[in-house]
Amino acid sequence: MTSYKELGLVNTREMFKKAVDGGYAIPAFNFNTLEQMQAIVQAAVETKSPVIMQVSKGARNYANGTILRYMAQGAVEYAKELGCPNPQIVLHLDHGDTFELCKDCIDNGFSSVMIDGSSLPYEENIALTKKVVEYAHKYDVTVEAELGVLAGVEDEVASEVSHYTKPEEVIDFSTRSGCDSLAISIGTSHGAYKFTPEQCTRDPKTGKLVPPPLAFDILHEIEKKLPGFPIVLHGSSSVPQDEVDTINKYGGKLPDAVGIPEEQLREASKSAVCKINIDSDSRLAMTAAIRKHFVENPSHFDPRQYLKPARENMKKMYIHKIVDVLGSNDKL
Ligand code: G3H
Ligand code: 13P
Ligand code: ZN
Repeated sequence: MTSYKELGLVNTREMFKKAVDGGYAIPAFNFNTLEQMQAIVQAAVETKSPVIMQVSKGARNYANGTILRYMAQGAVEYAKELGCPNPQIVLHLDHGDTFELCKDCIDNGFSSVMIDGSSLPYEENIALTKKVVEYAHKYDVTVEAELGVLAGVEDEVASEVSHYTKPEEVIDFSTRSGCDSLAISIGTSHGAYKFTPEQCTRDPKTGKLVPPPLAFDILHEIEKKLPGFPIVLHGSSSVPQDEVDTINKYGGKLPDAVGIPEEQLREASKSAVCKINIDSDSRLAMTAAIRKHFVENPSHFDPRQYLKPARENMKKMYIHKIVDVLGSNDKL
């Protein structure tokens, strides 16, 4: 058993309380690679922001769970080296789908886990979440649960259509499961294609797709039912058009990619939403920089030559999210 406390990591409890009270949201960035980890830590240190570094099941399969855990431990030490004496870094399991996976993460240094029972029948979701909570709380690890289904692919949990969270269920669900935070479905979804062109309108000036707004009415109803309770938004990449354009200009093919407009995420950050999940925007920033670099520098073959601009581009994006969208800067 390795406690996250030995690694200098923190759980989400205090962090979320401050974020809800302060009207901002904590960035939850997925990471799979060294460059993502470095960019996340540099961005968090430079902006004095708490940060959640999250690992999906897919990331564990790609990079190895043990390596990712040591990278998170390294992130804490790296942040200190960069001049942040008390970094607030959470190592979080994203979309855990079994008790065994959550337990393995808790036993191996994670400070927070998500148990995603959103595809299960309601009572089974409660039972599974409660089982994870009972184990996690013995070690002061915090637990995120999910109620309502996001459209798109959630690792092992896939759904064609979204089912918005039912506000009338949230009190019963959070009380009986004992979860520390709740991911809800109000129209976000995973990936770079959050809406079909048919679901969008076109901006008459630019011709760009304009997605339908998030269901803020549902969010506000949930806030009223659970005052001060930490709410989480998954699928919150904004799919920046300039990165998509760069990818397409330099040989990529991402037609009609569309995300959540940042002004809506800004508005959500001021509410009980205190954790906003971003993965696709990091993938786009990395891919755009690498594609551009390859076209402009056909003779390069040292990975450091193209991973450096990729890392810089991701860092720029992380800083932008922290400062201009979530408002979690200057909180350390
Ligand atoms: O929720 C999905 C995250 O973006 C993680 O994606 O399962 O491909 O690592 P992944
Ligand atoms: P995006 O695909 O919108 O980045 O969402 C990531 C996410 O929700 C991870 O759990
Ligand atoms: Zn997610």
